[in-house]
Amino acid sequence: MAVGFSGSNGGITRNYEVISTANLKDSRFCQKSSIPMEVSYFINNTCNLKCSHCYVGYNDFNNTLSVQAWKSVFDELIAHGARTFGNVGKEPLLNWKETKVLLQYLKAKRKEKPELRLGLVTNGILLDKLKITELEDILPDYIDISLDGNRDLHDWIRGVGSYDKLMNNLFLLSESEILKKIFISFTLNKLNVLSIADVVKTVYNLGIKNILISPYVTLNTYDRLHIANEEIIKEIQKLLDGQLIDFKEYEGMNIYIKNDFSTTRDLMEEMASRNIINKNELLIDDYGVIFNKYSFNNNNIYFNYLPWDTSYIQAIRISMMDM
Ligand SMILES: C[S@@+](CC[C@H](N)C(=O)[O-])C[C@H]1O[C@@H](n2cnc3c(N)ncnc32)[C@H](O)[C@@H]1O
Ligand code: SF4
Repeated sequence: MAVGFSGSNGGITRNYEVISTANLKDSRFCQKSSIPMEVSYFINNTCNLKCSHCYVGYNDFNNTLSVQAWKSVFDELIAHGARTFGNVGKEPLLNWKETKVLLQYLKAKRKEKPELRLGLVTNGILLDKLKITELEDILPDYIDISLDGNRDLHDWIRGVGSYDKLMNNLFLLSESEILKKIFISFTLNKLNVLSIADVVKTVYNLGIKNILISPYVTLNTYDRLHIANEEIIKEIQKLLDGQLIDFKEYEGMNIYIKNDFSTTRDLMEEMASRNIINKNELLIDDYGVIFNKYSFNNNNIYFNYLPWDTSYIQAIRISMMDM
């Protein structure tokens, strides 16, 4: 999951082990974890929505790479050890032809190197039965789909009618074999912070069992959506104390609380200082994700922890390039 910019990255892998805090201070360990393992690429710089919370608020119809150029970039990155490729925007389904070809390319590469992971992050609005069939054939390791609360909240952020369109498409997906690859991407802000339980219930009822919760990031603390760390921690503590969700009503649900070193480090360290993130019980998965895991009645809550900044080394992002 969430070591950098690329959304869920497919969550935590099944294989993981205990990591000692001594390792985190070992520069050789840090170096070993510094290959560009995680690549977030922008297939386009355009979007069909204009969300009020969006940090990529530009639209640029130029400066996109050709499919051929992307393939060369991927080849080079794979040769350097990259293992996760996330098509993170701006909106992959808007350039479905190119997105599909590149996902198919990465799928072929995955046949040669089974450790490769490929995925995409989308608002889900342009999904349809044909694209779902094509996605079933590609079988991405993860498909992150954004949902920002109930109809009112989601539509306030993403535009009127977007909730109903999304729900219709999530229903189509609920009948598909790729359902288990779906991660709901829930960006937590001041307006929807009390909706965690509702969102979990809504997606669970559709058969979706993965939710990635990421705090809204803004530089403007007067922004209406800005949420204080204290408020986030309060809700997360309620979640852990069983006050938000009755986990007896769920089975196999995975909730990922996403931390990012460059944008939400203070929140992450605050959670560590309150022992929500327990640095003495950290685990590490096959892809170098360091995390804590809580389990309740066969449901899991994960917190990733980043001891150092992974940007540009472990996690890189490619957008707005011209060749
Ligand atoms: C930039 S979007 C690109 C993919 C796609 N267009 C979508 O909305 O899912 C990727 C994710 O970033 C989230 N996001 C957008 N602006 C954000 C912000 N300011 N802080 C945190 N997450 C944000 C979106 O909600 C979405 O889940
Ligand atoms: S759909 Fe995604 S990229 Fe488009 S405006 Fe919304 S958050 Fe930004």
